[in-house]
Amino acid sequence: MCAPMVRYSKLPFRMLVRKYGCDVAFTPMIVSHSFIESEKARHNEFTTAAEDRPLIVQFAAKHGTELADAAEIIFRYSDGVDLNCGCPQRWAIQDGYGACLLNKPEIVHAMIQQVRNKITDTRFSVSLKIRLHDDLKQSVEFCRRAQQAGASWITVHGRTKSQRYESVNLDAIKLIKENLDIPVVGNGDIFQLEDALKFQSHTGVDGVMSARGLLENPSLFTGTETTPSACIEEWISLSLSYGCTFTNIHHHLMYMLEKTLPRAERKLFNSYTSLASVLDHLNGMFH
Ligand SMILES: Cc1cc2nc3c(=O)[nH]c(=O)nc-3n(C[C@H](O)[C@H](O)[C@H](O)COP(=O)(O)O)c2cc1C
Repeated sequence: MCAPMVRYSKLPFRMLVRKYGCDVAFTPMIVSHSFIESEKARHNEFTTAAEDRPLIVQFAAKHGTELADAAEIIFRYSDGVDLNCGCPQRWAIQDGYGACLLNKPEIVHAMIQQVRNKITDTRFSVSLKIRLHDDLKQSVEFCRRAQQAGASWITVHGRTKSQRYESVNLDAIKLIKENLDIPVVGNGDIFQLEDALKFQSHTGVDGVMSARGLLENPSLFTGTETTPSACIEEWISLSLSYGCTFTNIHHHLMYMLEKTLPRAERKLFNSYTSLASVLDHLNGMFH
């Protein structure tokens, strides 16, 4: 799966990873309150296309009605709604979103139920993306309650909210998987196909999700170690045809070329401010 990534997992990038073996893609996290209230927010935050499936739309929400209303809006254009219970950023925690929901299992329970009551079509999934609690018993209990409330599946990012990029706790994910009946998707530090396979065999998860790995190499699930030139060409083509800002096109290219460009050339590439310079550089690189 392609992880939810603010500013990055937008339509053209989702279409790119789908071409390279990614089965399911997430939108970036969208704040449900503004999504319901403002047409401008809906226009800016959510763009899709008929071929952009299976698609999971992730929301930051703190009330069941907000999440259910937001889910109702995107229901026809997607395959499921996901509640962010992992965002560790200060603004999110202060506003009652993201990882602070890990300490509010009863609210999360009610939120899942409200979505399920509003959208009765069970082909539409209601899922959560969580981080670990400091005490793993709480994580297991949290997930069990979510399952009981009707959650269709859960993604576990194997770090606590205070861990940045310390190594992922695979044993914790295994424990959660063993204690649930619904599918569990594992996330954290998947940069190569081999990482995905090791992750799965260690934990027994039903699926794996990558964020930074796919940014660096959108074709990682096909087994390539770095981004192939055909994938870069495909990115240019998709980003131009679906519509993308120069900044977004450039940022993705910086990620994709990070491993292959020598430091001095990378500095030059990253300094470009126009699409023409970027394309000239790529033409030079790939003839
Ligand atoms: C640029 C960026 C944006 C992210 N935005 C979101 C988001 O919108 N929602 C979310 O649940 N996680 C978000 N994350 C976290 C990732 O989905 C993922 O859980 C985390 O990066 C660990 O996976 P990784 O080791 O494959 O990068 C973001 C991560 C990155 C790098």
